[in-house]
Amino acid sequence: MESPSSPLKFLLVLILQLSVEANAYSAPIEETFFQCLSTNSKLVVPLSSYYTPKNSTSFISVLNSTAQNLRYVGTKVPKPAIIFTPLGEPHVQAAVICSRRLGVHIRVRSGGHDYEAVSYASQIETPFIVIDLMRLRKVDVDIPGNNVWVQGGATVGEVYYGIAQKSKIHGFPMGVCTTLGIGGHITGGAYGSMMRKFGLGADHVLDATIVDSKGRILNRAAMGEDFFWAIRGGGGGSFGIILAWRIKLVKVPETVTVFTVTKTLSQGGNKLLQRWQEVAPTLEDDLFIRVIMQAAPTNNGTISRTLTTSYNAMFLGSVRRLLKVMRKGFPELGLTSKDCIETSWIKSVLYIAGYPNMTGPEVLLQVKPVLKPYYFKAKSDFVRVPIPKIGLLGLWKLFLEDDNPFMVWSPYGGMMERIPETATPFPHRRGILFKIFYMASWQDPDEDPSKHMNWTRSMYNYLGPYVSKSPREAYVNYRDLDLGMNKNWKNVTDYIVKEASAWGAKYFKGNFYRLLEVKSRVDPDNVFRHEQSIPPLPVKRQT
Ligand SMILES: Cc1cc2nc3c(=O)[nH]c(=O)nc-3n(C[C@H](O)[C@H](O)[C@H](O)COP(=O)(O)OP(=O)(O)OC[C@H]3O[C@@H](n4cnc5c(N)ncnc54)[C@H](O)[C@@H]3O)c2cc1C
Ligand SMILES: *[C@@H]1O[C@H](CO)[C@@H](O)[C@H](O)[C@H]1NC(C)=O
Ligand SMILES: *[C@@H]1O[C@H](CO)[C@@H](O)[C@H](O)[C@H]1NC(C)=O
Ligand SMILES: *[C@@H]1O[C@H](CO)[C@@H](O)[C@H](O)[C@H]1NC(C)=O
Ligand SMILES: *[C@@H]1O[C@H](CO)[C@@H](O)[C@H](O)[C@H]1NC(C)=O
Ligand SMILES: *[C@@H]1O[C@H](CO)[C@@H](O)[C@H](O)[C@H]1NC(C)=O
Ligand SMILES: *[C@@H]1O[C@H](CO)[C@@H](O)[C@H](O)[C@H]1NC(C)=O
Repeated sequence: MESPSSPLKFLLVLILQLSVEANAYSAPIEETFFQCLSTNSKLVVPLSSYYTPKNSTSFISVLNSTAQNLRYVGTKVPKPAIIFTPLGEPHVQAAVICSRRLGVHIRVRSGGHDYEAVSYASQIETPFIVIDLMRLRKVDVDIPGNNVWVQGGATVGEVYYGIAQKSKIHGFPMGVCTTLGIGGHITGGAYGSMMRKFGLGADHVLDATIVDSKGRILNRAAMGEDFFWAIRGGGGGSFGIILAWRIKLVKVPETVTVFTVTKTLSQGGNKLLQRWQEVAPTLEDDLFIRVIMQAAPTNNGTISRTLTTSYNAMFLGSVRRLLKVMRKGFPELGLTSKDCIETSWIKSVLYIAGYPNMTGPEVLLQVKPVLKPYYFKAKSDFVRVPIPKIGLLGLWKLFLEDDNPFMVWSPYGGMMERIPETATPFPHRRGILFKIFYMASWQDPDEDPSKHMNWTRSMYNYLGPYVSKSPREAYVNYRDLDLGMNKNWKNVTDYIVKEASAWGAKYFKGNFYRLLEVKSRVDPDNVFRHEQSIPPLPVKRQT
């Protein structure tokens, strides 16, 4: 391009100055955004769905209400300028249109469980607006049609409850924690205690409605198969705002069985875990035995804390059949009928989620988080070769160095083995033995976070030799900004895309490139962006 001549340059400078001044004197974003919403929505926008720090005393409590990670809640964390809670689909459309028109950035929140809070805190730009779907949570279960239409703001617990209200022999395979939002959960995969039998929540999506970057509502037919592929595992907040999913029910037996057997290291826990690594991914698909590791106090004068390994399981069948399966496949655990509880599928959901015995399913409708939120840093890894004894011994030593360490190993195999890596963007399928989740958490606001952050990072370094390599795989729903983040989102260049490929390959392996292509086509201006959103490919300008 030619450089502008002097008079032109002067004019440009003048225009720039004028527009800066115009901005300085223009109405605040809280007002202009509200006006824009009102003019662009077919549905009246009431002030009661609009929260600003100045205008509303409930602003912080609404922001807090579903925020899961206290690391992103304190006064030092940048706050949105506005929280908008749409009451209907036209409100969501208007929010996208106004975001573009006014050039103000939006974040989308459903259940607020993002590990790095990208749904309600921005580290890369201000001002920003949170579009919170908490008022779009209808669950419409159609047993004869074998499917459910569910709005993005509903929790997985509400879906489970809605299904169980209508049938004792239907269920849906997704997350264990019952307060997860469907909008952010299924977009990243969604696994739970039935994944060995059925795969992920994302594997059972029949249709969806989404508001795209132009503010249009598209269903599967209108968005096309590439776009539809991308939203079932490509991670939340990159492609549009999911209004609703249509998901396909699965059949569950009327009676299922759950158990938890806990062993400390001195009770042969180490040897048992070596065995579990070999057998858990190969047992019948009906059986899911995960291992939960925690530090526990001991009465032993020599050591104050030990590690407990809890074999926490769900079996799609009776105790009788379970005992047979265990005798054949995993006798080392020594499971007896006394350890087992026969129950309904919906009660197994409560059991695996960790609710106290006798908690009724109605707890699933409770909107306020049942768990007190806490500060945490978590990571994930995938294991393809069993970790040898020497590796386990070092792991336990490091494990006990944190005050409140937590680790869960979830077995793969079964259906996870049979779904091709490219069927959805979620690539961790064939050959994965199990997934590791690890987390340090704390409650005291005065504690030094770096102590716990460091522990999580040391554990990541320690595990390196024992887990998947090239790429070292990670679960996108366990978002980890240590893996990299988009900094200069406004100016997407080849370099940005190259940087993103580092974490992109970990989350998506080869599927990352298809995600880039879809993103470039459906959101070339990067309307939907955050610290780890998929960047569009830079536009090749002709010179
Ligand atoms: C305590 C806890 C337990 C968990 N247990 C499990 C588990 O058992 N299985 C599992 O698979 N995962 C689990 N997760 C991870 C969970 O799946 C992810 O954190 C998921 O993204 C949460 O969705 P959300 O709607 O609650 O989160 P949000 O924080 O609201 O959103 C997460 C991401 O999705 C985007 N997003 C939100 N809503 C929409 C929408 N409507 N359309 C498009 N994008 C959207 C956000 O912008 C953000 O990028 C757990 C997380 C926590 C904190
Ligand atoms: C703030 O509240 C006042 C009084 O209720 C109202 O007139 C005004 O429109 C509100 N502004 C915004 C941006 O919500
Ligand atoms: C929001 O959460 C923070 C951190 O826990 C807390 O200090 C504050 O009191 C909460 N505010 C409201 C209104 O809930
Ligand atoms: C206490 O634990 C140590 C280490 O595991 C062990 O060597 C020792 O025998 C234990 N002592 C008792 C009394 O159990
Ligand atoms: C709950 O406790 C009762 C009484 O102890 C017991 O019979 C039942 O099996 C338990 N159920 C679960 C799911 O733990
Ligand atoms: C955590 O690690 C950082 C960087 O290595 C170091 O500066 C800091 O002192 C560590 N914090 C604690 C509490 O160990
Ligand atoms: C975009 O980034 C590239 C590389 O960092 C830089 O050369 C270019 O000047 C930037 N463009 C704008 C408009 O900021």
